[in-house]
Amino acid sequence: MLHKKRKMLVTYALPYANGSLHLGHLAGFIQTDIWVRFQKMRDADCLFICGCDGHGTPIMIQAEKLGIAPEKLVEQFRAEHAENIKGFLVELDNYHTTHSSENQALVDMIFKRHVEKDNISKRIIKQAYDPEKEMFLPDRYVKGECPRCGAQDQYGDNCESCGATYTPTELKNPYSTLSGAKPIEKESEHYFFKLQNFKTQLHEWTRNGHLQAQVTKKLDEWFTVGLQDWDISRDAPYFGFKIPGEENKYFYCWLDAPVGYIASFQNFAERHPDYKFSHYWENDSKTELYHFIGKDILYFHTLFWPAVLSGADLRTPTAIFCHGFLTIDGFKMSKSRGTYIKAQTYLEHLQPEYFRYYLATKFNDQIEDMDINFDDFTQRVNSDLVGKFVNIASRCASFINKNFDGKLAKKMSKPELYETFVKEGDSIALKYEARDFNQVTRQIMALADRANQYIDECKPWAMIKNPELQQETQAVCTLGINLFRLLAIYLKPVLPAIAQKVEAFLIVSPLKWSDKNKPLLNHSIQLFQPLAQRLEKTQIDAMKHAAQDA
Ligand code: 2FM
Ligand code: ZN
Repeated sequence: MLHKKRKMLVTYALPYANGSLHLGHLAGFIQTDIWVRFQKMRDADCLFICGCDGHGTPIMIQAEKLGIAPEKLVEQFRAEHAENIKGFLVELDNYHTTHSSENQALVDMIFKRHVEKDNISKRIIKQAYDPEKEMFLPDRYVKGECPRCGAQDQYGDNCESCGATYTPTELKNPYSTLSGAKPIEKESEHYFFKLQNFKTQLHEWTRNGHLQAQVTKKLDEWFTVGLQDWDISRDAPYFGFKIPGEENKYFYCWLDAPVGYIASFQNFAERHPDYKFSHYWENDSKTELYHFIGKDILYFHTLFWPAVLSGADLRTPTAIFCHGFLTIDGFKMSKSRGTYIKAQTYLEHLQPEYFRYYLATKFNDQIEDMDINFDDFTQRVNSDLVGKFVNIASRCASFINKNFDGKLAKKMSKPELYETFVKEGDSIALKYEARDFNQVTRQIMALADRANQYIDECKPWAMIKNPELQQETQAVCTLGINLFRLLAIYLKPVLPAIAQKVEAFLIVSPLKWSDKNKPLLNHSIQLFQPLAQRLEKTQIDAMKHAAQDA
């Protein structure tokens, strides 16, 4: 039967271009990357697209503080993000930016289509305005005293001191965090996206297998409250795209951010003409489209985004995969505790694959938060990767190298054990597909235990001393190396660099999932080189220390 290649486009949420990436961002990228690499090993034509989110007030303010143009700030962070992401062995096909000509053209086109369909309305609203700075103030730029307990310097939505929730207008003695001035209320005309027009369609879409069950449940709460019109415009000064026909109004950055997925694809397609816009984004597209995101941006991706797409006659996502947040040693990321760890700081001290592996042992398809506990991290890496996985090869390779001229036998000692490992590959694949990486690594480590157990039982180090058992020793070690090769295939989406070293050691071309079906026999291998070093506590301490200063 002719097997049809799966065509897929996968994205991870575009990080803002006003700061460095931390381990929380990287966790999301790595989850996505493991899934994408798995698909590629299974022969899918799978693109992984991302970029930075370059618009909005915080970016404008940050650039102003630094005395540089916002375009420059965005480009600096774009380059830094791309390098960090690569440092963690995340293989992106493109890392573009929402501040791009492709995105501008797409946003204009999408907006025009919505205007034509009467999905956009205009009305005058009142907002906080900084009379000194002469700009409207997003909520996070207004602080004041809590109306309940009187605590100072509280944000406009809730009090960190007593936990009260309220609206910004209820704050006592409010001030603008930009100038210190007392905000006034000012009117201005805004554009709104009529989300209500998509109510029935969204209600159906959100329960048709595109979302995790937990997410659908959360959305039910929002449907009950009712879908509100969405304010998609911002007044100048703002860093973003101007609304066509307006002098002083811009699109809100959250309108053009997800369109940035399409723009990044377009930018990639300009260099790769086989990838056509129509195949990926038009209404009847057969390509699978997946967005991986964090739980804080669910509303944008599960309600606004499908509505924006379908109203503009574009295809909607196949699925949205949402993950929880990262805590470090049980705490939210905080600089003083040394738990705010920038991607760069980690990379200066530890290997990316240790983080990838540890994350894999934690990830499932739920949206609960995940804790990175560095003692557990050290223990997992040392016991699983060094003690179990790599150990299989190091125990068998030396005999093949020294006693059999580096050549594997023509037959394995126990082919049925190899077959058992091959069969388990099918259920491991199902778990990868379901993003249940925790179960993937568990199953693989259980196999590693069985392989080590077999070697313990055979004792090739004793067999080799018996001249009558030479051939048998070679067959045992050949099985051992082949079991190790299978586990390297299964772990390759998580450990791509180690897998590459395994490929060099075994003198084979890049391992694909289907390679599991055929063992390596009568085949020469290289001298074995250590594939992973034990992780020491001192390395972790040094990294945490550096994180405090970074
Ligand atoms: O929350 C954030 O970090 C946003 N920059 C994510 C944007 S995702 C997509 F819509 F672009
Ligand atoms: Zn309070």
